Amino acid sequence: MMKKMLMVTSALALGLATTAAKADPEAEVLHWWTSGGEAAAVKVLMEEFNANGGTWTDMPVAGGGGDAAMTALRARVLSGNAPTAVQLKGPSIQEWYEEGALGNIQDVAEAENWDELLPEAIQYHLKCDGEYCAAPVNIHRIDWIWSNSDILDEAGIEPPKNWDEFNAAAEKLQGMGILPLAHGGQAWQDATLFEAVAVGLGGPDFYRKALVDLDQDALKSDTMKQVFDQMRTLRGYVDDNFSGRDWNLATAMVINGEAAFQIMGDWAKGEFIAAGKEPGKDFYCSSPSGGAYLYNVDSFAFFNVDGEDRQAGQKLLAKLTMGENFQKVFNLNKGSIPARLDVSMDEFEFCGRQSNADLNEAIDNGFLLPSYAHGMALRGAQAGAITDVVTAHFNSDMSAEQAVEQLANAVAASQ
Ligand code: BGC
Repeated sequence: MMKKMLMVTSALALGLATTAAKADPEAEVLHWWTSGGEAAAVKVLMEEFNANGGTWTDMPVAGGGGDAAMTALRARVLSGNAPTAVQLKGPSIQEWYEEGALGNIQDVAEAENWDELLPEAIQYHLKCDGEYCAAPVNIHRIDWIWSNSDILDEAGIEPPKNWDEFNAAAEKLQGMGILPLAHGGQAWQDATLFEAVAVGLGGPDFYRKALVDLDQDALKSDTMKQVFDQMRTLRGYVDDNFSGRDWNLATAMVINGEAAFQIMGDWAKGEFIAAGKEPGKDFYCSSPSGGAYLYNVDSFAFFNVDGEDRQAGQKLLAKLTMGENFQKVFNLNKGSIPARLDVSMDEFEFCGRQSNADLNEAIDNGFLLPSYAHGMALRGAQAGAITDVVTAHFNSDMSAEQAVEQLANAVAASQ
């Protein structure tokens, strides 16, 4: 009996000693999730982190698409004070790694079996020299058309599934005095439209050649001219005040019935959901891409930081990010779908399940395509060169011929 008590006491003492030696996890997290749906999503991770003994310092940088956040990040890294974790994606993860700024979370990834849990098609985005250096939170689909169901039903219009149907619907609505397209005139939003048009009009092979491989023939092709012509057509469907408008304000216009459509990634669905709207009832989702799927994986990259508490914070955050419950709840709010393959889609609504089914089909068909506009396909300078031309064309009377020439030249100069 005495012996047993002694053992219990020493085990307790050992437990206490271990706790005292452990650093309390801390994380300063830089992200650009500031809209209603986005903030609800990131709060899930913040709460889980704190509930697991961590201390979360939030560093939100407003500005859709993340341009402002990336400027803030560079300033922090240059001043030798990188945040613990940063919302980052695509080749910019590897670019930061090449600059020597990123740490490695391979030990967490191995312990938690990430290679088994993540689709092979997205793993390479998260690895640096073959080892995990970022943890994914989701898979967003970009090429969506969101529509106000009351407007469409009253006008007798089905959710458009290609650009001809979209144009026909928009003409009809314009004739009825209804604004067809809610758009925010910021360069990244113009680029979002452009890539959805490119994949829908040109098909997956054209998209890959032009916007992933940067093939000069594809960039100069007649198909690319048609893409710019369709951009000009879309420009005719937006209101006069679109310039500079934030994406979530454009979503609000569809939610409130001020416009029929928005073309935007499924973070827009997060806004509908945050406003208490139901897919199939209050709004519709459709894709103009004929089986192709433009994706974007948000993830956290972990920068080199000093201090055991911050390093412990990185490991805890990496582990929680890939947790099954987190991947479900975060994505129910965010509008995206889980990156983990084993999360049940039962609690997801129609558009989420559709996204998941389309993703799997696109993987099988080879139609899964990285979004250029959301930093998944190209290095920053190359993507920037394309976006400059796209936005210059959209906001002027530049012809499609001129745009195509400028595009091919700008891409060549950026390589
Ligand atoms: C990000 C999303 C974000 C959206 C709007 C995208 O680039 O991947 O997570 O919601 O921008 O800011």
